[in-house]
Amino acid sequence: MTVEQARKEIQELTAKINYHNNLYYQQHRTEISDYEFDQLLEQLIKLEDQFPQLKADDSPSQRVGGTITKEFKTVAHRYPMLSLGNTYSRQELEDFDNRVAKGLEGEPYEYFCELKFDGVSISLIYENGVLARAVTRGDGVRGDDVTANVKTIRSIPLRITDNHAPKLFEVRGEVFMPKTVFEQLNKEREDIGEERYANARNTASGTLKMQDSSVVAQRRLDCYAYYLLGTDSIGTHEQGVHQLEKWNFNVSPTYKKCKNIREVLAYIAEWENKRDGLPLETDGVVIKVNRIDQQQRLGFTAKSPRWAIAYKYKAQSVSTRLNSITYQVGRTGAITPVAELEPVFLSGTTVKRASLHNANEIARLDLHIGDYVFVEKGGEIIPKVTGVDQAKRTDSTRPVTYIDRCPECNTKLIRVEGEAAHYCPNTNGCPPQIKGRIEHFIQRKAMDIDSLGFRTIEQLYDSGLVKSPADIYDLTLNDLLKLEGFKEKSARNVLNGIEQSKATPFESVLFAIGIRYVGKTVAEKLARYFKTIDNLAAATYEELLMAPEVGEKIALSIRQFFENPENQREIERLKKAGLQFTVSETEVKKESDVLANKSFVISGVFQNYERDQLKDIILKNGGRVLSSVSGKLDYLVAGENMGPSKREKAEKLGVTIISEKDFENLLKGKPATK
Ligand code: IVH
Repeated sequence: MTVEQARKEIQELTAKINYHNNLYYQQHRTEISDYEFDQLLEQLIKLEDQFPQLKADDSPSQRVGGTITKEFKTVAHRYPMLSLGNTYSRQELEDFDNRVAKGLEGEPYEYFCELKFDGVSISLIYENGVLARAVTRGDGVRGDDVTANVKTIRSIPLRITDNHAPKLFEVRGEVFMPKTVFEQLNKEREDIGEERYANARNTASGTLKMQDSSVVAQRRLDCYAYYLLGTDSIGTHEQGVHQLEKWNFNVSPTYKKCKNIREVLAYIAEWENKRDGLPLETDGVVIKVNRIDQQQRLGFTAKSPRWAIAYKYKAQSVSTRLNSITYQVGRTGAITPVAELEPVFLSGTTVKRASLHNANEIARLDLHIGDYVFVEKGGEIIPKVTGVDQAKRTDSTRPVTYIDRCPECNTKLIRVEGEAAHYCPNTNGCPPQIKGRIEHFIQRKAMDIDSLGFRTIEQLYDSGLVKSPADIYDLTLNDLLKLEGFKEKSARNVLNGIEQSKATPFESVLFAIGIRYVGKTVAEKLARYFKTIDNLAAATYEELLMAPEVGEKIALSIRQFFENPENQREIERLKKAGLQFTVSETEVKKESDVLANKSFVISGVFQNYERDQLKDIILKNGGRVLSSVSGKLDYLVAGENMGPSKREKAEKLGVTIISEKDFENLLKGKPATK
């Protein structure tokens, strides 16, 4: 393909992708499937890799991330990012209205009301129509440059196609994690034995500061735009909001222009409960004077504008009786205490139960059975117990004694140092743990055996036919026909699903076998890095630490998993059943074979590469990465600040020591100049 052909194709793909993206985010419609969309994006990425000079700053390929930011640059805001004055009462709102009226000396004015979105504020700078910079609030004067991460947020336009747009303008908005995404993320975390994140806001904030933008891309953040700055042609805040809509920013349709403070109060009342149905958390209403010239006349105090105020809703909270505490056992054996409450109505639903997280939380709240407790629906969908109504405590209440035996199998519980949860150590004999592992194994993201539902798993477990994932592959038609509700057709359907699952790629199998802390992403990286389960099982703790995404906690968990003889037997049985325990060649996405049969140790810091990047390049070009210098090693790639002992050892053993430049020569097929 010539450069010209590539340019044309890139343009066409970009236009198509942008079209479908806008359709999805602005009109909430789709014309193609997610798969077809991903295919278009993949084609674009491939072409841009081939012709890097054609990759535009606003290419939709930026949406998938890939940039690593070690340290976020601090940059000064063009206009300071101020906070808003807060109020919780009608009276204070009316005082605010009086101050505005006085400041405007009797001139008529209107308000513009929006919800106060509970996310992370962001400043987006557009230069010549292109998103040039995205900066967090920071201390209001300077913030962090998080552009690469923000570019992965699909509802933020990377380019404005409007010739009349100012050369330079700024958009303020709120980055947030939608409630559904947050719940999903927490489910996934629980599933691999990680603790839940506390709330969506902090999770969004943490996500924006992640170093690897491709992980940010998977977190599916969103952004509501609510403020346009740096344009002269706009007379009211309302016009600014409409302009943002025309430029395809994601503007929440919940705003309303209000003629006077009475209408503002009605808006506040209207959204008090309705806001529960919104895709994100909101904690109040922002009231702004609509006309920009009037805003300017009212001006600012040192901290906040005089032309705007935030009315905060009181957290919805009720008091109800704590009847008892029950305990749930998860797949990993972690125990979760649950408050069983006297049913109570709270913002639209009846609440009967609330998670208490762990024993520390119960101690912190000083809970007694029979207490009246305050229940809130705060940042999360699951209600939480926020405190005890001490005034209502009577002599008949009794302090909670945390269980010391598993409620399911009566095994003595253990507590790992540094962790809040209690665990049931009876991994292979405790029913909910076993069923949980099988459910994890068959789920869509793992082996995807959808002909086997959770109910069937229950039946198979209860009848003693399936006690571990490997048992699934020994099932026969006769076994299934013995189960209630199964006929020949449904039984064959199950067997077909099981048979098909044998083709599931290694990375999914690795996720399915349920090593603690090994989620989908980590499993993918491990599969690509180690290539086979045998390599992974043989890797030492130190070697595991060299793999991408692996820290001490994961390395330790992987070692423990493979040292357990029960797990070893299970893997052997799954191998015999015919599951994939090796990456298929196409998955490695080989770029070349120039480093075939060569082994490398990487040491020190490099100018042009992160260490993970170097490892990746070596693997993609057929080489192997080792963790320690030995006589068999081909090359030691030496960066700055390499430990002297490694160098000495390499010199003694006659290993070739090469620089970053030499390595690049090797990659080009030239000899390393040493
Ligand atoms: S306007 C000068 N509108 O609240 C006024 N802010 O306490 C600029 N926020 O840092 C803010 N929703 O992060 C505005 N509809 C909305 C908002 C909103 C949430 C946040 C924003 C700001 C903070 C002010």
